[in-house]
Amino acid sequence: MTHYSMKHLLGIQSMSVDDIHSTLDLAESYAQLNRGRDKRASVLNGTTQVNMFFERSTRTQASFELAGKRLGADVMSLNVLASSVGKGETLIDTAMTLNAMQPDILVVRHPQSGAVDLLAQKVECSVVNAGDGRHEHPTQALLDALTIRRSKGRVEGLTIAICGDILHSRVARSNLLLLSKLQNRVRMIGPSTLVPPIFAEFGVEIFDDMKEGLQNVDIVMMLRLQEERMSGSFVPSLREYFHLYGLDEEKLAVARPDAIIMHPGPMNRGVEIDGLLADDINRSVIQEQVEMGVAVRMAVLHLLPRLRHQEGAMPLATPDQLGQ
Ligand code: CP
Repeated sequence: MTHYSMKHLLGIQSMSVDDIHSTLDLAESYAQLNRGRDKRASVLNGTTQVNMFFERSTRTQASFELAGKRLGADVMSLNVLASSVGKGETLIDTAMTLNAMQPDILVVRHPQSGAVDLLAQKVECSVVNAGDGRHEHPTQALLDALTIRRSKGRVEGLTIAICGDILHSRVARSNLLLLSKLQNRVRMIGPSTLVPPIFAEFGVEIFDDMKEGLQNVDIVMMLRLQEERMSGSFVPSLREYFHLYGLDEEKLAVARPDAIIMHPGPMNRGVEIDGLLADDINRSVIQEQVEMGVAVRMAVLHLLPRLRHQEGAMPLATPDQLGQ
């Protein structure tokens, strides 16, 4: 198995098409392992993974923790609320402090775009971006691609609609980058306040009407309305938003009959998606996305080059030195 040529996974931008395919292929084998009774592999035995989440998370934090543990790493999740961050310690000082404890991998989520890239320049271990502001969420795009590939048999040549609050979404950006690299047609649908026209420069087709944008699409990817990132009024009312942009049976009817529904979670039921559609196991792959999240994060942790010691930052002690 060839490891990534890059030291960190900071975004889809820096992944090659080969990197993406290698990740999906390995993740597929971890998806099989995860359905078995014994879910352990030993590829990260002896390594240390530290998770630092400066923003709330259920899916990403839990799945990175499970992924590291299933691969045999020692995993520590920093409780940011109870840490010295509350006393004013900066992100970089926090990261440097943990770096001094010799981790091999830092998994970081932060509300500021670019914060994870900055941190990666300051530490010696590999850094994985678990979502930074509106910038990127690379493992989400990879798990979405794996879910699509499992459902459609391929993740090329499809028409994919990304719908809703694109302006505030790192998931939309990472998916656009990945799906474009793999030669898919990407549409973005939402009110003009939430769909920046600049995306048209990346070859995206932009629609402000759901029934126009969803015509004959293979994949309907709904996004959460991120009210916590909104400083003004971007939608008239939640009721009006659901009427115009919430996914329901009537709007979905214009997509291909075998179109699948995706949502990265967490969902606002009755705002961007009808709750019954989200739970319809014949159309919705939302639970499979969560399942593939663990498999993809196992593959990413596996494929990161373990450079810390190779680069001589701190040579590994020999068994003699340890008195073994
Ligand atoms: N999709 C996603 O990132 O979910 P969490 O915020 O729960 O991690």
